[in-house]
Amino acid sequence: MIGPTVEAVRAEIGRVFGALDVEAARSAYWRQNELLVLERALPPAVVDALAAEVDHVRPAIHRNFIPRHKKGGSVGFYTLAAETPSILALYRHPAFLDFLARVTGQRAEPCPEGDPHACALYFYTEPGDHIGFHYDTSYYRGIRYTVLVGIVERSSSRLVCQLYKDVPGRATEELRLATDPGTLVLFNGDKLWHAITPLGEGEERVSLTLEYVTDPRMTPVKRFISNMKDSIAYFGFRAVFSRRGASRSLSPTTHDARGG
Ligand SMILES: [Fe+2]
Repeated sequence: MIGPTVEAVRAEIGRVFGALDVEAARSAYWRQNELLVLERALPPAVVDALAAEVDHVRPAIHRNFIPRHKKGGSVGFYTLAAETPSILALYRHPAFLDFLARVTGQRAEPCPEGDPHACALYFYTEPGDHIGFHYDTSYYRGIRYTVLVGIVERSSSRLVCQLYKDVPGRATEELRLATDPGTLVLFNGDKLWHAITPLGEGEERVSLTLEYVTDPRMTPVKRFISNMKDSIAYFGFRAVFSRRGASRSLSPTTHDARGG
């Protein structure tokens, strides 16, 4: 996975986002109150590289269960930064960042490297795995955008989006989306009320989320709240509060998660 393969993935991502119809994407994004769905936007060559990295980090999956809210597994940023170069290449790709800026009208950057949520994998692998309705609320001063990327979709689970919920006087509209491999879903985290419906027997769904912020400053109190939430609901205390612990679980020789 190292070397030419990552370079080929990087080149292909540049080609894809250089060729997309930005005007069409922008108008769809704003028409849907800051939500854009690009079905199978990433070609199989890129998806295959991402999927191989997903399999590589499976031993590091941390599972959570919060009654009546969420159940599932995740692998956070520190492990991805150390172990998944193609995923990081997508997360930081200049052509992708330019595309996001032109669609949203805001220049957003990858989250600070101390944020375990910056980019993360979510594994729905056991019956009933799901997440209830929520906003991707920003703890940063700036706007936070989420890009959800479908990697594995062999499930009846759906990403349910309730559009216009925050718009006074406007009726809510519901979308139920399968996040097929290579499908991208971009939204403003403070505007889209969304959920993932429970996984069925013998099914699997894996998605990647990429988070971007327009202003990465955060007060220490909000940082603490954010870390506690990530520890309990997502990645575990060891992964959130100890980078060394996070990467050691997968690769004994790699201690600095920022190396990716
Ligand atoms: Fe979310």
